[in-house]
Amino acid sequence: MTRVPPTPQEQAVRRTNWVLIAVSVVFLALAAAMLANVWGHPPPQQDIPLVDPAFLDQTASRQSYADLVRAKEDLSDFKCYTCHEKGEPPPLRFDDQHNIIVPEEHANIETQHGSHNRNNLCFNCHNENNLLSLSTREKHELSFADSSRLCGSCHGPTFRDWEAGVHGRKNGYWDKSRGESRRLDCVNCHNPHAPRIPARPPAPGPHPLRTPEPSGRAASAPTH
Ligand code: HEC
Ligand code: HEC
Ligand code: HEC
Ligand code: HEC
Repeated sequence: MTRVPPTPQEQAVRRTNWVLIAVSVVFLALAAAMLANVWGHPPPQQDIPLVDPAFLDQTASRQSYADLVRAKEDLSDFKCYTCHEKGEPPPLRFDDQHNIIVPEEHANIETQHGSHNRNNLCFNCHNENNLLSLSTREKHELSFADSSRLCGSCHGPTFRDWEAGVHGRKNGYWDKSRGESRRLDCVNCHNPHAPRIPARPPAPGPHPLRTPEPSGRAASAPTH
C-alpha cells in the first residue's frame, strides 16, 4: 500500500495542532513557575496613613464677642463700666520708650499690632466716649459684634478679599438647604491686640499612591 501524501489541508491542521501543544506547554510551564514562586512576589502595598486630623479641624482659633454671646458664655471682660466711669475715658499711660503700659487689670491683653507696634493705641479702635463700642478712624461707631468692619476700615484690600471669600474662610455648607454658611470674623483668627499669626507647619502634600523608590534613586534628578 503506497502512502498517500497528506493534502495541504491535512498539513495545515497538523501544524496548528503542534502550535497549540507548544502554547499549552509554555502556559503550563509559566503556571508552574508562578506557583513555585520562582520570581518572588511584588512588595506588599503600604498602608497609606490618613492626614493628621489636626489639619482638618474647622474650629476657629479664637472665640469672638459674637461667639460668646451666641454660646451665652462669660462676657465680664466686655462689661467695661463695671470698672470704668461713664464719661471718663481711661487715660493712656506710656513708658519712656513711648510703649503703652497695659494695667494689671488688662494683663490678658498683649499689645503687638503691627511690626513696630504701630497700632497699639487703644482708642484707635475703642470708642473713648463709649467703651462698649468700637470706633473707626472716621469715628464710625460699631458694635463689638461688627469688629470685622473696624479691621476693614484700615485694612481695605484684605477686607475686600475677605468679603470675596479669598482671605479667611467660610464654615458650614455651600448648599443652603443643608445648613447655614458663616464667614469667620477677622477676630476668629486674629487677636485684635496682637494679630500676627505665628507660622504653622504646612499640611502634607497628596500621597503619590506608589511605593517609594529606594532613597538613592528617588533623590536623583530626572534625565529629561
Ligand atoms: C476688671 C475691671 C476692668 C474691666 C472690666 C475693664 N477695665 Fe479697662 N482698665 C481697668 C483699670 C483698673 C485700668 C487702669 C486704671 C485707669 O487708668 O483708669 C484700665 C485701663 C483701661 C484703658 C487704658 C489702658 C492703658 O494702657 O493705659 C483702656 C483703654 C481700657 N481700660 C479700656 C477698657 C475697655 C474698652 C473695656 C471693656 C471692653 C475695659 N477697659 C474693661 C479695669 C477694667
Ligand atoms: C486694632 C484695634 C484694637 C486696639 C488697638 C485695641 N483693641 Fe481692644 N479690642 C478690639 C476688638 C475688635 C475687640 C473685640 C474682639 C472680639 O470680638 O473678641 C477688643 C476687645 C477688648 C477687650 C475685651 C476683651 C478682652 O480681650 O479682654 C478689652 C478689655 C480691650 N479690648 C481693651 C483694650 C485696651 C486696654 C487696649 C489698648 C492697650 C486695646 N483694647 C486696643 C480692638 C482693639
Ligand atoms: C487704626 C487702623 C487699624 C485698625 C482698625 C486695624 N489695624 Fe491691623 N494694622 C494696622 C497697622 C498700622 C499695622 C502695621 C502695618 C505694618 O507694620 O506694616 C497693622 C498690622 C496688622 C497685621 C499684620 C501683623 C504683623 O505683625 O504682620 C494684621 C494681621 C492685622 N493688622 C490685623 C488686623 C485685624 C484683624 C484688625 C481688626 C481687629 C485690625 N488689624 C485693625 C492698622 C490697623
Ligand atoms: C480663617 C482665618 C482668618 C480670617 C477669618 C482672617 N484672616 Fe487674616 N490672616 C489669616 C492668616 C492665617 C494669615 C497669615 C498668612 C501668612 O502668614 O502668610 C493672615 C494674614 C493677615 C494679614 C497680614 C498681611 C497679609 O495679607 O499677609 C492681615 C493684614 C490680615 N490677615 C487681616 C485680616 C482682616 C482685616 C480680616 C477680616 C476682614 C482677616 N484677616 C480675616 C487668617 C485669617
